[in-house]
Amino acid sequence: MSERFVTSTLNKKDENQEKTLRPESFANFPGQKKVKEKLELYVQAAKMRKEPLNHLLLSGPPGLGKTTLAYIVANEKEANIKSSSGPVIDKPSDLAGLLTSLEEGDILFIDEIHRLNITVEEYLYSAMEDYFIDIMIDQGPGARSVRLNVPRFTLIGATTRQGLLSSPLRSRFALSCRLDYYDAEFLQKIIVRSAKILNITIDDKGAYEIARRSRGTPRIANNLLKWARDYAQVKANNHITLETAAIALEMLDIDDNGLDEMDNKILEVMLNKFKGGPVGIKNIAVAVGEEVGTIEEVYEPYLIQEGYIMRTNQGRVLTERSYKRFGVTGEPIKKNNTTASFNF
Ligand SMILES: Nc1ncnc2c1ncn2[C@@H]1O[C@H](COP(=O)(O)OP(=O)(O)OP(=O)(O)O)[C@@H](O)[C@H]1O
Ligand SMILES: [Mg+2]
Repeated sequence: MSERFVTSTLNKKDENQEKTLRPESFANFPGQKKVKEKLELYVQAAKMRKEPLNHLLLSGPPGLGKTTLAYIVANEKEANIKSSSGPVIDKPSDLAGLLTSLEEGDILFIDEIHRLNITVEEYLYSAMEDYFIDIMIDQGPGARSVRLNVPRFTLIGATTRQGLLSSPLRSRFALSCRLDYYDAEFLQKIIVRSAKILNITIDDKGAYEIARRSRGTPRIANNLLKWARDYAQVKANNHITLETAAIALEMLDIDDNGLDEMDNKILEVMLNKFKGGPVGIKNIAVAVGEEVGTIEEVYEPYLIQEGYIMRTNQGRVLTERSYKRFGVTGEPIKKNNTTASFNF
């Protein structure tokens, strides 16, 4: 079992706290029903066959539980897990070092796998499929290739940008699971559990208030809970109610629908500078002063899921929900079948 699962003393340090907040079993992991069902079956079948797990890819926006699930899978399979990340595995020899340090049945977790460089990625293909890598030793006339056998391991890859994965890599994962934003009821459960671990009392309405304003994301829910805890400690007798949660979140500029400052900035820029669109993502990024990748990865998926913006062939457009939010009234006009914009 992984050392990361050793329960740490509560409230010791943030890092330890983060570990204790991570559920260690499927039973303690609320939400993601379909993904969980698949993973439970996948672990159970491999256990019954006494075989290593097949390679697994976990994708989805940041903070939804990819790393947590990778560790849960290892825990439930009673397998060792080693963790690394795409940008850290710089050279083929780094990968060779990692792979040869594994034992049969171990799990190698590679976070941000879309950021592996292409040379390293190509070495990974033979390791994943046939459990060997051919490493070049020396350069020039003395160069020779040495074959290293790799124990039968399981690769769990995690990515926020599945679209950036090359198809040869993607196709080598036997199972691929995509995590989605959480409904408020599941985030509420996560908050209640975290509050117990953090030693703070919270009532159901307070937990729900934080849940519905957490952009469907457990990491944000936990962070907002910690902020509400600070607020309650100083101002409200260490107890979080609906009212204390609402005031605490207001102080962070998180609005009533859970949109944060950057979400609002994106919508405002689209309305005021680009007349509601269609506008390209690069223009939005420049106008709000944020990276294109971050907007695509972090902000846009939630705004689309909540129905504030739409993607069309011509670019992004605001939806009726956004216009209502800004109190702008107008008749939607249809520009071909996909694009809706508004007269106002
Ligand atoms: N279903 C869940 N139940 C309880 N806590 C959760 C759940 N999912 C995630 N968390 C918590 O949210 C935080 C973020 O989760 P995690 O690190 O697994 O996300 P991630 O998808 O790997 O994010 P990133 O893409 O940024 O690496 C962790 O503190 C974890 O404890
Ligand atoms: Mg992660």
